[in-house]
Amino acid sequence: MPPPEFTSPPVDPVAIARAVEVLKRGGLVALPTETVYGLAADATNDAAVRAIFAAKGRPADHPVIVHIADAAALDDWSREASPAAHALAQAFWPGPLTLVLKRSARVSDRITGGQDTVGLRAPGHPWAQAVLRGLGRPLAAPSANRFGRVSPTTAEHVRADLGVKPDGAVDLILDGGACPVGIESTIVDLTGAHPRLLRHGFIARSEIERVLGVKVEAADPTAPRVSGSLERHYAPATPLSIVPTEALAEWLAARRDRKMAVLAPAAVIEAWPADQLPFLALPAPQEADDYARTLYADLRRLDAAGAEWICVVTPPAGERWLPIHDRLRRAQAGSRPVDAEG
Ligand code: TXA
Ligand code: MG
Repeated sequence: MPPPEFTSPPVDPVAIARAVEVLKRGGLVALPTETVYGLAADATNDAAVRAIFAAKGRPADHPVIVHIADAAALDDWSREASPAAHALAQAFWPGPLTLVLKRSARVSDRITGGQDTVGLRAPGHPWAQAVLRGLGRPLAAPSANRFGRVSPTTAEHVRADLGVKPDGAVDLILDGGACPVGIESTIVDLTGAHPRLLRHGFIARSEIERVLGVKVEAADPTAPRVSGSLERHYAPATPLSIVPTEALAEWLAARRDRKMAVLAPAAVIEAWPADQLPFLALPAPQEADDYARTLYADLRRLDAAGAEWICVVTPPAGERWLPIHDRLRRAQAGSRPVDAEG
């Protein structure tokens, strides 16, 4: 499959030039990628990279992804990149795939959290591409949210969560529209004997296996420091439960007096018990890619609705739904109320 093509608002050269200036000075720029907004700093500037951790409130031993313009930069920022790494870069870059490789001497401990490996990704979003090419250096960029919160998919999300200096944490927010993929990149670790999937994303495991011609194993749960693999992550502040359609009636009956915010298929919303109408009901997209694109914006709306509980009706099964189930499970785990009632 060729790399996915996405649409975005036309690149604004003036805004890009400002962003490049800020980055050259060692500042922090929040910018759109096809997956989520990233909080970017010049990857070759240690002080700037350190500022990312401070802005996010992120522990210093969590590695950040290095964003490069294209596959030609792969060997500058990693070492011993295998034919498999080059094949995946060829197939999916620029695009929503991160490769974990042995780091080259150019990558600092700040970026890797002291590990000997580096996550590399060439983002396909035209705005991110324009900044990378304008700067002429890679960008260290985690998702532009406070540690443990839902990733941002619009400039407004970043403004609300991190904010702009002097009151906030970011020097500049580039508004390049809503992110077309909507969930973080797929991460594949190529540093072991077998390729491993560290994070589900838009590029499915089967697509990676098709390119590599070998099985891709699941993440090793004992492996260190993939913050996306922490149980409590992507968490809304309101308790969230994932409820299968067939269990919904009983689940709701046990929570009669609760104000609910709901993400469910339109048909389920239409059939909602009339004596228990939800505070806010968002119709869930039927296609996995659409669901993923709107997931984080939906979670934010559900969280902000003033409800006591977020009820997400279990999405369909199938490979393209795996990254969604993954994010929802983490949102549920991160939000679980102390009384663990549901
Ligand atoms: O789509 C994305 O990947 C977005 C956009 C901005 O590119 N970035 C993103 O970054 O999601 P962040 O920092 O929120 O998540 C990066 C994940 C973390 O779970 C981190 O632990 C993992 O990548 N990671 C980075 N470098 C790694 C390494 N060397 N080994 C293992 N995991 C690594
Ligand atoms: Mg993140």
